[in-house]
Amino acid sequence: MAESNRPIIRACDLVYRAEETAMADGREFQVILDGMSFEVHRGEVFGIMGMSGAGKTSVLRLLMGLVQPTSGDIEVLGRSIIGLPEYELNRIREQMGMCFQYAALLDSMTVADNVAFALRRRSHLSRQEIERKVEEHLERVGMSGTGNQMPAELSGGMKKRVGIARALITEPQVILYDEPSAGLDPIMASVIDNLIVGLRDEFGMTSVVVTHEVEELFGISDRVMMIYQGKVVACDTPEALRGTDNPYVQQFVRGQAHGPIAV
Ligand SMILES: Nc1ncnc2c1ncn2[C@@H]1O[C@H](COP(=O)(O)OP(=O)(O)OP(=O)(O)O)[C@@H](O)[C@H]1O
Ligand SMILES: [Mg+2]
Repeated sequence: MAESNRPIIRACDLVYRAEETAMADGREFQVILDGMSFEVHRGEVFGIMGMSGAGKTSVLRLLMGLVQPTSGDIEVLGRSIIGLPEYELNRIREQMGMCFQYAALLDSMTVADNVAFALRRRSHLSRQEIERKVEEHLERVGMSGTGNQMPAELSGGMKKRVGIARALITEPQVILYDEPSAGLDPIMASVIDNLIVGLRDEFGMTSVVVTHEVEELFGISDRVMMIYQGKVVACDTPEALRGTDNPYVQQFVRGQAHGPIAV
């Protein structure tokens, strides 16, 4: 298959169980993902939605190779990442950016040092070039001029935006966003949404966006996958999902308390 037609990410029959020492019902593990398959195409914004605790963050952690699935396969950029040694995983991760749900900045470093971190490790750019890139990326997320501040001086939403700048600065091929606009005001949320869509339209960047904000996700995604109880319930364009008669999707999209999804 031509490289450009090949899915940038393929997950095949993913099962992910977390060991539990004290499950109330006596089980020794919790099934988080229970046989999920999906593909992310090059250059698309791929949304993942599901209830809190559905396993959205777990999917992203698996795609980054931060945790290993119990079974199943994950291909990233045409290569299986299961069982790869850390140094090979790191080479694949260099092509991926991750925006963590809670920003995960290094508290002892300034904003600028946090954003520059991966560039300093991976590239041979001069100090001035790195400074210029850092400021350019801070500006993209509306955080211009904050480079000298410490993370503790920032609000939750500001930290989140710095986390996005940090993930973008190495110009990865695919970027994974975990709840990118949670905790942001509506204006900043649309700045981030426009950024995600703009990176696709201008540079063909692939994004995987996890959120339970349905309207936001439908507004930016080319396709959206819904997960429930560790399985894919639906995966289609926002228009198709709006019109579907799938009762799980309907209940979630309309935010109804009654329906097949147990609340
Ligand atoms: N390492 C782990 N050990 C035990 N349980 C885990 C582990 N990682 C995740 N879980 C459990 O897996 C389930 C899914 O968690 P996950 O963080 O992926 O959900 P989520 O969809 O991102 O939720 P939210 O919308 O609240 O962020 C939860 O029940 C969580 O408690
Ligand atoms: Mg999560």
